[in-house]
This record gives sequence, C-alpha cells and structure tokens, in this order.
Amino acid sequence: MSFFDLFKKPGGPRIDPLGTDAAARLSAIHGASFARAWSPLEFERLLGERGVVGDGVFLGNATKPVGFVLSRIVLDEAEILTVAIAPEARGKGLSIPLLERHLDELSRRAVRTVHLEVEEGNEPALALYRRFGFKETGRRAGYYQKADGNRVTALTMTLGL
Ligand SMILES: CC(C)(COP(=O)(O)OP(=O)(O)OC[C@H]1O[C@@H](n2cnc3c(N)ncnc32)[C@H](O)[C@@H]1OP(=O)(O)O)[C@@H](O)C(=O)NCCC(=O)NCCS
Repeated sequence: MSFFDLFKKPGGPRIDPLGTDAAARLSAIHGASFARAWSPLEFERLLGERGVVGDGVFLGNATKPVGFVLSRIVLDEAEILTVAIAPEARGKGLSIPLLERHLDELSRRAVRTVHLEVEEGNEPALALYRRFGFKETGRRAGYYQKADGNRVTALTMTLGL
C-alpha cells in the first residue's frame, strides 16, 4: 500500500475545503504555531475574501481540522499565506496530502505560479516545500524578529504548476 493510499482508507484523514465556520479552530492552530496568532475575525475575513482558498485536514469523522493551508490567488499567481498542523498532530505526514490537494486546487483554478515565504531553519516546512519542488528565489536577511528578540532570515520560494 502506498503512502497516499493510507489517506483513502475509510475513516482515515481527509482533505476538505474550508469555510468561514472554521475560523475559530484555525485561529487556535495558528496561535499554537506562530508567535503572533491571527484572530478568529482575521480568519473569517480572509476565508470570506474572493480569491482566498483554504483547505483543511480532518481526522476520522471530526468536523474540526487538525491542520490547514490558506492561499490568495491573484490572476494566475497564488501566495501561500499560512500552513499549520496542530502541534499534537505533527510529524505524521499529514501536511503532505494537505499541500498536494491544495496545489491541485490552485492548478484547477488556473494558477501557474505559487509563491511563499518561510523562515530559514524551519526544517519541517522547508522539507515539505522542497518535496513539492519549490525553489528558493530570494532571501531577506534578519526579516523576522523572534519572540526572544533574535532576528532570522526569510526565504522566498516559488513553484511553477
Ligand atoms: C510545517 C508543518 C505544517 C509541517 O507539518 P508536520 O506535520 O510537522 O510535517 P509532516 O510530518 O507532514 O512532514 C513533512 C515533511 O517535513 C519533514 N519533517 C517533519 N518533522 C520534521 C522535523 N522535526 N525536522 C525535519 N524535518 C521534519 C518530514 O520528513 C517531511 O519531509 P519529507 O517529505 O522530505 O519526508 C508543521 O511543522 C507546522 O505546522 N509547523 C509550524 C507552523 C509553520 O512553521 N508553518 C510553515 C510556515 S512557512
């Protein structure tokens, strides 16, 4: 059985589009993943925005996702705004089918180029993006300020679909 067949098993993880009703859960996962949490209202506004596409990964029959990805489409380009898996669900490969399905959806919507920004040294995120063929296109030294005051480099990455 291949890795991706695991996600087709009845009762296994599934990937579904997200609506504004997921805003509170996304805010909670985001808050557990990044130094500055986006509020439920920010997620509600984003998910209600034309051109913003969100997908979630759900376990079993759960109605709330354990992870999500959000992108904004402008013409034939998209930017991945944020990707996060709840801390307790990380390291199980859930981000892979999530991103795969999301990129398929972007492609279906005629997106040809996908951009994103990631902190240098964020190894799980870099492994995920490289797996799908994202290439580094730029770096902004000291762009992010960490909670401890240290500054770290932001990498920009791009993928052609
Ligand atoms: C980035 C994130 C979504 C990845 O999800 P995950 O559940 O941790 O990772 P997965 O188990 O799905 O594996 C994805 C890849 O990361 C690798 N990986 C997972 N944990 C890792 C670790 N601790 N160190 C290095 N690589 C790791 C996996 O091996 C896999 O790569 P591969 O396909 O080359 O084998 C998750 O770590 C997260 O939410 N992080 C906090 C938020 C964040 O940083 N988002 C990205 C912002 S740009």
